[in-house]
Amino acid sequence: MITFKTVTKQFKNGDYGLKDISFQIDPGELTVITGPSGSGKTTLMRLLTREYKPTEGEIEFEGQMIHNLSQGKIHNLRRKVGVVFQDYKLLHELNVWENIALSLYIMGKSQKEIEERVTDLLGLVQMEEKAWLFPSQLSGGEAQRISIARALATAPSVIFADEPTGNLDAETSANIAKLLHKINELGTTILLATHDSNVLDIFSDHRHLHLNKGVLEEDTGNSKQTVGSRNNKVDKSESSKDKNKDEKSSEELDQTKEAKDEDTKKDKSSKVDKSESPPAEEASSGKKDTQTKETKKTRFKLPKFFGK
Ligand SMILES: Nc1ncnc2c1ncn2[C@@H]1O[C@H](COP(=O)(O)OP(=O)(O)OP(=O)(O)O)[C@@H](O)[C@H]1O
Ligand SMILES: [Mg+2]
Repeated sequence: MITFKTVTKQFKNGDYGLKDISFQIDPGELTVITGPSGSGKTTLMRLLTREYKPTEGEIEFEGQMIHNLSQGKIHNLRRKVGVVFQDYKLLHELNVWENIALSLYIMGKSQKEIEERVTDLLGLVQMEEKAWLFPSQLSGGEAQRISIARALATAPSVIFADEPTGNLDAETSANIAKLLHKINELGTTILLATHDSNVLDIFSDHRHLHLNKGVLEEDTGNSKQTVGSRNNKVDKSESSKDKNKDEKSSEELDQTKEAKDEDTKKDKSSKVDKSESPPAEEASSGKKDTQTKETKKTRFKLPKFFGK
C-alpha cells in the first residue's frame, strides 16, 4: 500500500533528509517510526503528503506513484493521508466543531453530511461535551483528540502522527496512544513518529522503523502487525468495553470510504490547495444512512460560521 523504493531527499542547501530508504507498509499496519532529532521522521511524512518531492527513488501509495504526481492530483492524495502534529495546529478562531467540519465544508458536503460526520468523530474521540469550545479552552490532550478527529474527517486510509504526544504528560500520552490504537483497529493504517517512552512501551510489539541521520537503520518487519493479528500491550479491558461502539464506528468509517468516489465528483477542493487549510482538512464525509438513533438524538446544529 505504501512503498518507498530507494528514496533520497536532499535539500537545496545540500543537507539530506533521507538517504536511500526502502520499505513497504501494508494496509492496516501500525508502524512506529523512531530516531533522534534530525533523523528524517518529519521528512518521511512530508514525502508521503507530497509536501516534498524525493530527489531520487520512487514512492507508491495505493497503486499510485506519488513522487511524480501532478500538482492537480495532490489534494486527492492529501485526503487519503491524515496528519496529526505535536502542536495540534488547530485553527484558533474556529471552535472544536468547526475545526473538524471545515474540510467537509470546503469539499462542498451537505449540512446533513457534515453534521453526521462531525458528530461521529466527536463520539469516537469522546469529545462531544466540548464541541463548542475554542482551542484555547482545551487541555493539550483534548486538543490532540480534536486534531485526530480533524485528521479523520477525510476518512483517510492512513494517519501520520508526527510526535503527537510531544507536549503531553505520561498519562495523557498513553491515552492518545490508545486512541490511535483504537483507530488502527477500526482499519486505518497508522504511522506514528515518536520519541515518547510511554508510547514506545505501548507499541513495543508493533513494527518499528528506526532512522538515524536519514538512514533506515532498523526495520523490525511487517509480518504480524496487520489489524486483528497483533499481540500488544494496549489495555484489553478498555478495548472490549468499547467494542460495540468501535464496531459501529468501523462500519461507519468503511461506508464513508465507499462514498469517496462519489464525493470526488462534486468536490470543490481544487480551490483548497491555495487556501490556508492544512492537508488534513481536506476531507470526505460520512454516509447518511449509517446513523444510529443515538447519534441523531445528539446531533449538533451547523454553526453560523458556515452560513446557509
Ligand atoms: N526544508 C528543509 N531544508 C533543509 N534541510 C531540511 C529541511 N527539512 C528538513 N531538513 C533537514 O533534514 C534532516 C531531517 O529533518 P527532519 O525534520 O525530518 O527530522 P526529524 O527526525 O523529524 O527530527 P525531530 O525529531 O527533531 O522532529 C535534518 O537534518 C533537517 O535539518
Ligand atoms: Mg520531526
